[in-house]
Amino acid sequence: PTVLTVPEVALIILIGVTGSGKSSFARRLFRPTEIVSSDACRAMVADDENDQDATAAAFELVNTIVGLRLAAGRLTVVDATSVQPAARASLLAVAKAHDVLPIAVVLDLPMDDLLTRHAARTDRPFGADVVRRQHDQLRRGMKQRGGLSGEGFRGVHFLRSAAAVDAVTTVRRE
Ligand code: CTP
Ligand code: MG
Repeated sequence: PTVLTVPEVALIILIGVTGSGKSSFARRLFRPTEIVSSDACRAMVADDENDQDATAAAFELVNTIVGLRLAAGRLTVVDATSVQPAARASLLAVAKAHDVLPIAVVLDLPMDDLLTRHAARTDRPFGADVVRRQHDQLRRGMKQRGGLSGEGFRGVHFLRSAAAVDAVTTVRRE
């Protein structure tokens, strides 16, 4: 099982399609104030965490909060899909600007599990096509030269099943 060593200050970027379990993972292992959620930011600017028209504003807010937290030397976890290389690049730039270690945690569950979970959810109004599209984006991004390390991540952890996600523990380095 994965033991995630968490430095005193780091930017932990969760990567996974909708339903992969990012929010549950973050809630289990981190303090609420350490988690910067794109859905929470979407709700703050648009009153609706599913409002896709608010995506640009929501991510401006995510990046702003992340930058302010890293400037203050605070451990930060980003809860957003981050399946697109461009989304990761802007977060990596913020980490670099503050000389903070960027760590990727990839929740890469089998497609069948993702579709089953998605079908059971009532809080996500979009169809299964979104799950497939995000999954394709994730796979394509991972195949780029150098993968996530090549993008600039200094720690990369792959979790390939729900059981692997649930088994993760953290050790905090003071
Ligand atoms: N779930 C589960 N077992 C887990 C984790 C999650 O059955 N160990 C279920 C939850 O009950 C939830 C769904 O899977 O209904 C999605 O979990 P969530 O943590 O919300 O996934 P996210 O990746 O945060 O999804 P989104 O991107 O849509 O916010
Ligand atoms: Mg979530």
